[in-house]
Amino acid sequence: MILEKWTQGLENPIEPVIVTSDKAPVKQEIHYADELEGAGKGLEEFPIPISTPGFDPAPFLTSPYWVTKDPETGIRNVGTYRAMIKGTRRTGSRAYDIPTQHITIHWNKWKKLGRPMEAAIVIGGPPIIGIVSAAKIPYGVDEFSVAGGIIKEPIPLVRCETVDLEVPATAEIVIEGELSIDYVEYEGPFGEYTGYIGPRRLGPSFEVKCISHRKSPIYQAFISQFPPSESTTIKSVPLEATLFKLLRNDIGLPVIDVAFHEESGSWEFCVIQLKKSNNSQPWQALSAAAGMEATVAKIIIVVDEDVDPHDPDSVIWALCYAMQPHLDIRILPGKAMLNDPSGAPPEASYEEQRFPKPTGGSRMLIDATRKWAYPPISLPAKEYMENALAIWKELGLPQLKPKKPWFGTSLGYWFEENVLEADLALKGRYYETGEKLAREHRVNV
Ligand SMILES: Cc1cc2nc3c(=O)[nH]c(=O)nc-3n(C[C@H](O)[C@H](O)[C@H](O)COP(=O)(O)O)c2cc1C
Repeated sequence: MILEKWTQGLENPIEPVIVTSDKAPVKQEIHYADELEGAGKGLEEFPIPISTPGFDPAPFLTSPYWVTKDPETGIRNVGTYRAMIKGTRRTGSRAYDIPTQHITIHWNKWKKLGRPMEAAIVIGGPPIIGIVSAAKIPYGVDEFSVAGGIIKEPIPLVRCETVDLEVPATAEIVIEGELSIDYVEYEGPFGEYTGYIGPRRLGPSFEVKCISHRKSPIYQAFISQFPPSESTTIKSVPLEATLFKLLRNDIGLPVIDVAFHEESGSWEFCVIQLKKSNNSQPWQALSAAAGMEATVAKIIIVVDEDVDPHDPDSVIWALCYAMQPHLDIRILPGKAMLNDPSGAPPEASYEEQRFPKPTGGSRMLIDATRKWAYPPISLPAKEYMENALAIWKELGLPQLKPKKPWFGTSLGYWFEENVLEADLALKGRYYETGEKLAREHRVNV
């Protein structure tokens, strides 16, 4: 299961290994500064598409894994941040506007030291790098080690040519360079995962010093606009895994599964499936999920084990019949916005859009678990559904993928008398029940 694999990777990281350039396919061709300018050179070597034609102002790198280092500790960070192409050897960056992003923490440290920040953009390579690169992994933890832990073998890295950084040796393309610390400039607008065009934002410029790549490299991009998209798929995996680990391993809650729905950009709509043993556990899970990260999860719902957290039909059923709005919903202020246009109008200041006065955005926490014994689910009992499924298969009908819940079960409020009546009905003896009701349960009105 993906969540388990992720958790064991985070808890058992494996350090990458450094290999020499002759063992690194990404070094098959290397272009230095003077070879990077002019038609078809530098970034123009690659078929970088315009992601949202008609709206985007330029082609963007949409799956760049930015590798940077904390200048104080030397610990690496890998993060996916889209980058606008501004010249054959210049891109925009997002290392400025969101202070909690790790690349921005690094940039602020480099700026304090008065030195341009070294960076390398990695394109392609082991797919696990793309997943950890988009993941909320705690600051100071090297994503390459987590990637190694997940795949249970070290990631081979090779040293860059012009910056003091290491990058995956089997990447398709590596773009080395420096981020300005003296100025920032606009980059964007860009078609976002929210389903809307995001505004242009200020960011340092990235000046390319060297590009290395395989012979005939494959250019990789993520489709990153209206959800669902490749971007929302790749984001949901680590986000679900990170919250799962927090709730189950760090807090010890009986969590079965976590779902970040792609229609919410895999960011704002989160459902947690719990096999609860008491009624405070859903609120523990809701509070912890709300505190996981400043911008993540506007709507958080906890459901019981027989509700599929990934299936909107199943979640709607839980919301309608296991939840009372006046009792089971809380609105929590203090949420920061990430590309969410509902917090403030587009003409508002950046600060207002990010954390509207006075208490920022908000989250809705919903306990949609049953709080007491319920009558059984109104579907035929398991043996009958399984029998029907066997007949279905025998007849060679198209394969079925049963949704949760696909058979009826007792949920605590069901008595010996009900069991006997249902049993008699199956034996064709339901008149006996009719007679009993007339004899024992008739009420004069
Ligand atoms: C396709 C794609 C594009 C992304 N673009 C950005 C971006 O432009 N700016 C940003 O702040 N986060 C962006 N993200 C989200 C970050 O990758 C994510 O927050 C990640 O945790 C950042 O790495 P870090 O935690 O090491 O800072 C993007 C994610 C994906 C999958």
